[in-house]
Order: sequence, then structure tokens, then C-alpha cells
Amino acid sequence: AKKAVLGPLVGAVDQGTSSTRFLVFNSKTAELLSHHQVEIKQEFPREGWVEQDPKEILQSVYECIEKTCEKLGQLNIDISNIKAIGVSNQRETTVVWDKVTGEPLYNAVVWLDLRTQSTVENLSKRIPGNNNFVKSKTGLPLSTYFSAVKLRWLLDNVKKVQEAVEENRALFGTIDSWLIWSLTGGIHGGVHCTDVTNASRTMLFNIHSLEWDKELCEFFGIPMEILPNVRSSSEIYGLMKAGALEGVPISGCLGDQSAALVGQMCFQDGQAKNTYGTGCFLLCNTGHKCVFSEHGLLTTIAYKLGRDKPVYYALEGSVAIAGAVIRWLRDNLGIIKSSEEIEKLAKEVGTSYGCYFVPAFSGLYAPYWEPSARGIICGLTQFTNKCHIAFAALEAVCFQTREILDAMNRDCGIPLSHLQVDGGMTSNKILMQLQADILYIPVVKPSMPETTALGAAMAAGAAEGVGVWSLEPEDLSAVTMERFEPQINAEESEIRYSTWKKAVMKSIGWVT
Ligand code: G3P
Repeated sequence: AKKAVLGPLVGAVDQGTSSTRFLVFNSKTAELLSHHQVEIKQEFPREGWVEQDPKEILQSVYECIEKTCEKLGQLNIDISNIKAIGVSNQRETTVVWDKVTGEPLYNAVVWLDLRTQSTVENLSKRIPGNNNFVKSKTGLPLSTYFSAVKLRWLLDNVKKVQEAVEENRALFGTIDSWLIWSLTGGIHGGVHCTDVTNASRTMLFNIHSLEWDKELCEFFGIPMEILPNVRSSSEIYGLMKAGALEGVPISGCLGDQSAALVGQMCFQDGQAKNTYGTGCFLLCNTGHKCVFSEHGLLTTIAYKLGRDKPVYYALEGSVAIAGAVIRWLRDNLGIIKSSEEIEKLAKEVGTSYGCYFVPAFSGLYAPYWEPSARGIICGLTQFTNKCHIAFAALEAVCFQTREILDAMNRDCGIPLSHLQVDGGMTSNKILMQLQADILYIPVVKPSMPETTALGAAMAAGAAEGVGVWSLEPEDLSAVTMERFEPQINAEESEIRYSTWKKAVMKSIGWVT
């Protein structure tokens, strides 16, 4: 049968910490036509270490692309309508590979990994000039979270990496770079690049000059020749070299949180979104101004949608553990078999019954930046059961969001009137209602929660030379909104929040 022809289609890779997805959208309406998802393994070789296999990640991308194309075929949709591909990715996660063999020289060191704690402590004693040296250039605090210290660790500890650097064979990249280099041909001419949003998470990138910073590279001891070229978030980087979409341009690249900001159309100063993935990240667009936080938030690059387009900045509240706490309840405690089951358990009790769960598995990020914190579950009685713990885990995600929203409101001066949310966890209705109750403002979610992928697709479709997406609101006509209003009273909300804060204090200083 002749295949149906739609308007131009755009694909997006969403490579997150927990899973990889490929999704295909209609560029005229933002309707999601088909997608495929594969879960990604995480390895914990030692306490506090988190690694992933870069080849498994790459393989998962190919698998998702092939499966999605097959599904489109079954829907009678011609894949030759796919005009561009965008990439969005977990940020900071660090890969070093050999450009001659194409092989990664070590596992990817994941953003959550804590092995560089002593590296960070040593470096913080040597900060030149004033303590603001790193922050003023990068917008980031010196922390295990960002790529520079992970790369330093690889250079110090992995012989293969040291040799490859000496022999001029090493390439460094965050996941976007690794994927784009591989997908555009790898050892046969792959393009070694990244975009400004991903670069801004390395702690090596000057967010004012939009260049790798020589002084920072010297401070961290990073050879600049292994760094990727930094490009805008929307331009043609290269063409797919293999698979069902061979020849299609890759023309969008954004760190996943920036991609979600674009997918939520937060293009105006003061517009914000919160994405619930493995972690949880609240970003507020601050326009062309680089705003520095007084309350523990990061300054980061929001996007730059084209080579000649201006750069936009954002304030970011980063929470390390959100969806990851559900995965932990599934994989480490076995109290649920699938992530979706958490909603059923929580619904059975409708309260945590005074139980509080601070999932500080990787220390605490914003607004505390406390590497000494570790997870705690407190307030237990003989009455507490797994349903209460499940409920407390969901509440923890909401309380952490409240903390970063409070910080954001203080930094911006004008409190947010509602919160735009997205990400996989937003299909959990209990979580959404709890979030509205705990923030005490309405929570608004799009009918299609894959906003991260949508943002990457929009950037790819809008690129010069592709031009199939105009970034106007009418191009999102398939997306409708659902609203959750606070249902408890403000006083009750405050009491719960202040008890949460007591629990947080108990989690801090656990390791010294
Ligand atoms: O900074 C880390 C972030 O990009 C991870 O995103 O979607 O895997 O929680 P996600």
C-alpha cells in the first residue's frame, strides 16, 4: 500500500540517565507519531561511583531509531519525511574515547558519581585569586557534579587515557559529543562537537565569551586539544552515516534540561519549567542576562538557537535524585516491581504517616551543595509500611522542588504564579497533586510529557538549511495542558514542609 504522506517530520534522541528514547514528531502540530524506549544499565563499582557503558548507550540509540522507524512503517508513515534529528542528553556525564579505534577508553563517569570528592577538596584549596574564580566564569560551584573533575580523574587514574592523550588519539565529550561523533561516522570522519548548553556544564567553558577557558583548563590540568568544537544548539552538525535514517542531518543539540525549556516554549525572561527525570531540574529563563544566584542556584546557558542567534541564560535549581528514588525502591529494596506501581502503593495510604525520606544518595545539590549528606528515612513507627515509604518517596521529590522554587523566587524577586512541569514522572497523578499542595501554587503539565525530546526536535527542525519548524505557538497545536490546583490548606502545607527541613538537617554531615 502507498504510505501516507504527512508534513515534514523531525526525530529526536533523548538520551537520559535512566533510558534512551527516539521520538518522531509532526513539525506542524508537535504531535508525537511514534517512539521507542530502552532502559540503560547503571553500574556501581564502588560506593558512590556511578558508571555507564558508552557503547551500550550508542547501541540503545541505534536500536531506538530502528524500532521507531519500524513502528512508523506499520502506521503507513514514510520515514523519508523525517527531515532532521535533534539530540538531547543527560548532561555532565563524561566520556573519553580513542579517535583511531573508536573505542571508549573507560566507562562513562555519570554526573551523579562522587569519586571526585577528594579532587574537589584539593582543588578548592588551590583556587587562584578569590573563591569566585570558577563560579564567575562558569556559573557553577566547584562540585563533583560537573565534567572537569571527572575528566581530571580519568587523566590521573586511567593509563589508557593518559597514553591516548600523549599519542594525540584521545577525544573528550559529554554524551551529546560521543553520540554525534559516532552517528556522523566515528572513525570515518565523525564530527567532534558539542553545543553551548552542554559545554556550560563542563566547568571548562566561559559562559560570557562562549569559549573554552584557557585559565580554567590550566587550573584543572585539561589538555585543550581533546575538547570538542562548541557550536550553537540549532545548526547542521553532520549527517547520519548508517541505519534507517542514513543521510538525515543532525541539526539540534541541547542538554536535556535546556531542551525541556525549549519544548515548554519558555522563551521569555521569567518563564520556568521543572522536569522530573532521574533528577529534577527547575530552570528559569533570564534572557540575555547572566544572573548569579544568592541562594544556591546555578547560572547556566539556556540555549542559542542558531549560529547568529543570541545566547539565552537560565538560573537552575538542580536536584540529584527524583525518579532515581523510585528506581532504588524497585531495584534495591524490591518493594515495587515496576516504577508505575509506586502510584498504587501511595494511593493505598494517601499519607506518609509522619515518615520522611531524604534521598541524598549523591549528597545534596541545590540549594545546599552538601556532599556530606546521605539518604535517610525517618519518623518510622511500628505502623509504618512500604506504602508509607512509597508515599514519602514521592513527597521527597515535591519537597525538593519546593526548596529550589523558594530559592528561585528569592533570586528573581517575583514569585512564580504557577509551575510548568514535564518528564516521565508527571504521568503520576498523586505526585502532581502533592506537588501543587506542597508548593501551594497550581502545577501545569502538557498532555505529552516528552517535552525534552520535543525541544530537541524543535531546535533541529528550526535549523538553517532545514527550516521545517518555526518555533511559533501554533506549531504546538497538538499539545494540551492539564492543571492541578492546591487542595490542602496553606498552614498544613507549611507544617509538612518544615518537618521535611528538619529531616534534611539530619541527613547533612553523615559522612565526613
Ligand atoms: O544534569 C543531569 C541531567 O541532565 C540528567 O537528566 O533526565 O537523566 O534526570 P535526567
